[in-house]
Amino acid sequence: MFLQMVTLLALLAITNADVIPLGLVPQSPQDGRIVGGTTSSIEERPWQVSLQRSGAHYCGGSIISSKIIVTAAHCLDSPTTVSNLRVRAGSNKRTYGGILIQVAAINAHEGYNSETKVNDIGVLRLQSSLTFGSSIKAIAMATVTPSHGSAASISGWGKTSYSGGSSSATLLYADTKIVGRTQCASSTYGYGSYIKATMICAAAANKDACQGDSGGPLVSGGQLVGVVSWGRECALANYPGVFANVAELRDWVLQAQKSV
Ligand code: ARG
Repeated sequence: MFLQMVTLLALLAITNADVIPLGLVPQSPQDGRIVGGTTSSIEERPWQVSLQRSGAHYCGGSIISSKIIVTAAHCLDSPTTVSNLRVRAGSNKRTYGGILIQVAAINAHEGYNSETKVNDIGVLRLQSSLTFGSSIKAIAMATVTPSHGSAASISGWGKTSYSGGSSSATLLYADTKIVGRTQCASSTYGYGSYIKATMICAAAANKDACQGDSGGPLVSGGQLVGVVSWGRECALANYPGVFANVAELRDWVLQAQKSV
């Protein structure tokens, strides 16, 4: 009886711990893939790249010019360095195909805060230029924040489920809908004041970005509107995926790409 009580208490403790802040901590980028996704060719998403640290995929990114990739600031955190970082472009496979290019320089937003995840955006410059073609192309950054309810798609090689699941060998995408910042911070969802000014959300039942998708694109109307940033677990009801809002951070990117 005593043991059963202890077990019950331990279980309650675990469940409770999962309910608040701890559960809101952005997941580490090592493991994830799109949840509820469908296979994508690279020609359908030629701006999508895989960031590879010490030879292994760990984050996504988007091509905005022949030498500049946009990703999440948290993907550039230690242990990421210029020397251990390469980008695979032009392939929907995480381990082969396309072209693998060494990174020459990285720059994470100086206003990025690893606790709150505000300004979770960064750029990197490639050592040599990408040659654009059907499988490698730049995407334009949105100038206006997409409205609540707009169709938006996410893609990446991240986990297909939060618990267990491994990185997807092939690029996956999922169609979601934009959840505006105000709506995302409202009592309709579970995040409240964790949703800050530089963030935008997107959700669909049982579909979400997940670990390993970070840094990758949220695309709406053919433009880059978000960068995969964080979420509570993945595809959890009432907890949309949270993205860096590109329209709000665009000016920073335009400056940063000149100096990186
Ligand atoms: N931070 C994660 C990564 O580094 C991405 C998490 C996105 N989570 C989500 N539920 N949308 O890969």
